[in-house]
Amino acid sequence: MTDTRVIAVGSPPTFRQQVARVMEADPDGIGWVPSVTAVEESLLAGEEYADVLVLSPGIKDPDVLGLAEFVARSSPTTAVVAVRDHAPNGFLPVAMRAGVRDVVDLSRGSQEFREAMEQAIAWSANLRVAIPREPGRDTGDQGTVISVFSSKGGTGKTFLSCNLAAAISDISGKQTALVDLDLGMGDVFTYYGREPGRPIQDLIAVGDRTEKETIMSAATQLADNLWGFGSPPDPAAQTVHGESVGKVLRAVRSTFAYTVVDSAADYSDHTLASFDLSDTIVLITGLDVVGIRHLSKAMDTLLAIGFPRERFRVVLNWADAKVGLEPERVERVMKLQVDATIPSSRLVPLCLNRGRPVYFEEPKSDVARSVASLADMLIRSPAAEEGTTPAFAFGADPRSRGVFRRR
Ligand SMILES: Nc1ncnc2c1ncn2[C@@H]1O[C@H](COP(=O)(O)OP(=O)(O)OP(=O)(O)O)[C@@H](O)[C@H]1O
Ligand SMILES: [Mg+2]
Repeated sequence: MTDTRVIAVGSPPTFRQQVARVMEADPDGIGWVPSVTAVEESLLAGEEYADVLVLSPGIKDPDVLGLAEFVARSSPTTAVVAVRDHAPNGFLPVAMRAGVRDVVDLSRGSQEFREAMEQAIAWSANLRVAIPREPGRDTGDQGTVISVFSSKGGTGKTFLSCNLAAAISDISGKQTALVDLDLGMGDVFTYYGREPGRPIQDLIAVGDRTEKETIMSAATQLADNLWGFGSPPDPAAQTVHGESVGKVLRAVRSTFAYTVVDSAADYSDHTLASFDLSDTIVLITGLDVVGIRHLSKAMDTLLAIGFPRERFRVVLNWADAKVGLEPERVERVMKLQVDATIPSSRLVPLCLNRGRPVYFEEPKSDVARSVASLADMLIRSPAAEEGTTPAFAFGADPRSRGVFRRR
């Protein structure tokens, strides 16, 4: 079965070795991707194909179902096997109905796992004879996605997302989306003195088959060429899973030239799904030692999960000479390249209270100018260059892409 493609999906990265052991195969021959959104992205772009996708216990039940449904539509010869570390009980019939080939209970030993893999491989091989593989969809006309993140709260993520989106829409003159992924808590709309219209959760119900009109019906116009997506705070709102967020972001990306995503300060499934689809991840920190340490740790964490280094940009906020820490020292000591610095300014809270981003309200200010030059840099050179889709496909070295790339 040398031609069989098996991709292990989900953390930890060592899940790949576990799959290889069960199959008595060389781990280098098994692919690994960190999340369902990343694997969907790879399959969609036609960068990868798989006979079997084997999902680690780290993948949550709703994401297993979402992926199975996606695979049934876009890659019908691919078998999905879900591995759980406990008895699946009620999940088994639901999963089977969604198209999952098998749900393995690891607590019962590895024999069941081995048999499930053998059956999944055989099922896929039989089907492949009947259904030829389809080429990947051309994703060449998709927009650019930029996520803004810090693992520490209050560093200026929302301020930067709002102003960056304003600058990108203004400088590029292209349709730009600003997505508030800090669902339930987000205050993107406050920076524009507005309230979100239709909640983003409504889009999730329609998934990535969404028509442009449906997408636009959930958007609120914030400025010329600039549209916002978010949700009013609602403690009763249903939890949104990473895979669903991935689908919505893909739909938004297909409608807008640029999508700027404001994230919450944690490694939630939403955040990671948005990173999977991002051409650039902007890491922001205040110019203080605690913030810098957070940023450095965030970078290490995200690199360890498998995100490529070239996808990151580093922004220092509140970067004034007065604080006794120079950006150059940060670069030297932390071995980070700083891509932009934004000064501290009372214009930021002032404009927030007026409900207008600094970029529009005080375009000649130092803050607006620094945001503009970051926007300009991102427009000219989004981190994932040369038309690469930001998908993963890892072999022996998690940072080397494309072991399962089609010949
Ligand atoms: N360069 C700056 N100069 C002055 N004030 C700033 C600057 N950047 C951000 N602020 C202020 O700091 C506060 C926190 O900013 P913001 O809400 O953007 O942070 P955040 O990272 O999104 O926070 P959270 O983690 O809560 O989402 C806001 O009141 C904002 O106006
Ligand atoms: Mg925020």
